[in-house]
Amino acid sequence: MSQLSSAGFEPRVFSGVQPTGNLHLGNYLGAIKKFVALQERQACLFCVVDLHSITAQLVHEDLVGQTRQIAAAFIASGIDPKKNIVFNQSRVPGHAELAWVFNCVARVGWMNRMTQFKEKAGKDRENASLGLLAYPSLMAADILLYRATHVPVGDDQKQHLELTRDIAAKFNNDFAARIEALGLGVPMGAQGGGADGETGFFPITEPLIEGPATRVMSLKDGAKKMSKSDPSDLSRINLTDDAETIARKIRKAKTDPQDLPSDVAGLAGRPEAENLVGIFAALAGRDKAGVLSEFGGRQFSAFKPILAELAVETLAPITGEMRRIMDDPAEIDRTLSEGGARARDLADVTMRDVRDIVGFLSD
Ligand code: TYM
Repeated sequence: MSQLSSAGFEPRVFSGVQPTGNLHLGNYLGAIKKFVALQERQACLFCVVDLHSITAQLVHEDLVGQTRQIAAAFIASGIDPKKNIVFNQSRVPGHAELAWVFNCVARVGWMNRMTQFKEKAGKDRENASLGLLAYPSLMAADILLYRATHVPVGDDQKQHLELTRDIAAKFNNDFAARIEALGLGVPMGAQGGGADGETGFFPITEPLIEGPATRVMSLKDGAKKMSKSDPSDLSRINLTDDAETIARKIRKAKTDPQDLPSDVAGLAGRPEAENLVGIFAALAGRDKAGVLSEFGGRQFSAFKPILAELAVETLAPITGEMRRIMDDPAEIDRTLSEGGARARDLADVTMRDVRDIVGFLSD
């Protein structure tokens, strides 16, 4: 497979998942399945972002268990923790340290514009935690602490990744003279939108948001994203659901009265149909057009059982493996500890340079 292009920077992939609530099909198809494919191209960092998980809700009944569960889901889905770095964020102090610097790079107006902040804070913004407002700055720190060049995520993270690019560009620009004086600049090339010879310390990260399931919708409402926090369990397929539950949720999924169209254009204005076709395509590793060329003209009553079978076939081995891994928490803890040590080694190199660039005296 071809290398990811990254101007003068070493290509590096980073992504994170919050340990909040049950992982669902959206997390799997929008993110984790892509992590598994990317590890074939190069080593990656996959992080359980526990620092992020306390921004919306401070006290969790079992954050440790939730953290282990995400790590187990990564490994059960096929991520090799020897080849890649799998760890939890709070083990590496550089995330919080770099986030502080980025809090001073980013502007309050940038944060106020984040749609996820508006959604999560709701009407009572004054009462949201300061951490929730600064969330995207910590996310930029996660990525740039490793000078990651590529970030696979679902569509809902797009705005946060644009902000990450803005933070990197502003840091590079504000500290340009110091970066140059210290000889720490890396050629930005076309990737940084830069002119010939322009250098920077942080890469301008590329989001990887591709494929038929970048935004998996609720099974009960095609206008709403499938989410961990939806009060209706029927709205999502959890990675811990058994075969019968998966089949029942697909059977009960909302549809419209028409047959499936024979081409993608025919999905316009039919969000529920589009969602189920997208899920099918992503599970099968096909595109929507291919799925419709096979199922166009068929009724949902014929399509749904085949979709259910495919979902069970794909998810059952992952669920089973997750359970097996969860039975040995000490082994998960060892994996996260080893990953944390490897991540810290990389992070320390960046933070030494960042302290020099900003002008913090250190040993
Ligand atoms: P989180 O934990 O909400 O979701 C984890 C990943 O799943 C994707 N996702 C979806 N994809 C398709 N359809 C859906 N319905 C759906 N719901 C969730 C998300 O886009 C994400 O890729 N802020 C991040 C975590 C994070 C992070 C990072 C990600 C923190 N630091 C650095 C990348 C890089 C989040 O809350 O994801």
